[in-house]
Amino acid sequence: MELKEDYREDRDGIDSWKEVTLIYNAALRQIETKIDILNDEFQHVHRYNPIEHIKARIKTPESIVKKLKRDGYESTIDNMVKYINDIAGIRIICSFTSDIYRIADMIRTQRDIKVLRVKDYITFPKASGYKSYHLIVTVPVFLSDRVIEDTKVEIQIRTVAMDFWASLEHKIHYKFEGDAPEYIKNELIECAKMVSDLDARMLKLNDEILAISQEHKDK
Ligand code: GTP
Ligand code: MG
Repeated sequence: MELKEDYREDRDGIDSWKEVTLIYNAALRQIETKIDILNDEFQHVHRYNPIEHIKARIKTPESIVKKLKRDGYESTIDNMVKYINDIAGIRIICSFTSDIYRIADMIRTQRDIKVLRVKDYITFPKASGYKSYHLIVTVPVFLSDRVIEDTKVEIQIRTVAMDFWASLEHKIHYKFEGDAPEYIKNELIECAKMVSDLDARMLKLNDEILAISQEHKDK
């Protein structure tokens, strides 16, 4: 793997692979903590947790190299930092579709987080049936002698049901190297419809329960 030798050299700025790991890990932890705090605050104010759980990961050097190659870039640290938006990735799993937008709004209002890009695959699902809400954000990382401004983190927000679907679809995609038989693709699209239907019905049910609890309180 050609990157390996290259990214162990010492340079200025974000240079070695070690530094990439250090900086993106720091960015990941900062965002994760912010989201935890927002979830706690939400629980405090509304007596309800919008977030089920959070997964965080740093992309492996192998898949970074693969992606750079796919996009026609040389495997250098500079190119990684410039072109790979998901070196640091966070996935937020929630119960209801409405929580997704609530969480995205809470992230948007954080003063030190800048939103670079949004992809709303909830309103506009992919042809595969994939649904999720994606944000590319940046956060400053403070080191002892410098600040790495604009460190990018990809945030994916989706419901438990969407996550279930995406995990299986990813497995199938990987297994068939992106070329799954037609009947499997069709079955996945069918399942995606069931996921959307389930999410809508669960949300409606939850809203009805909330309305009943409110009535009891008002009496
Ligand atoms: P890359 O494909 O990662 O270069 O990014 P992009 O610019 O096309 O962004 P996009 O928001 O489409 O995808 C980013 C990430 O979302 C991917 O790396 C996957 O983790 C996830 N994702 C996107 N599309 C699909 C899909 O059809 N199925 C599954 N399971 N995951 C997807
Ligand atoms: Mg893509």
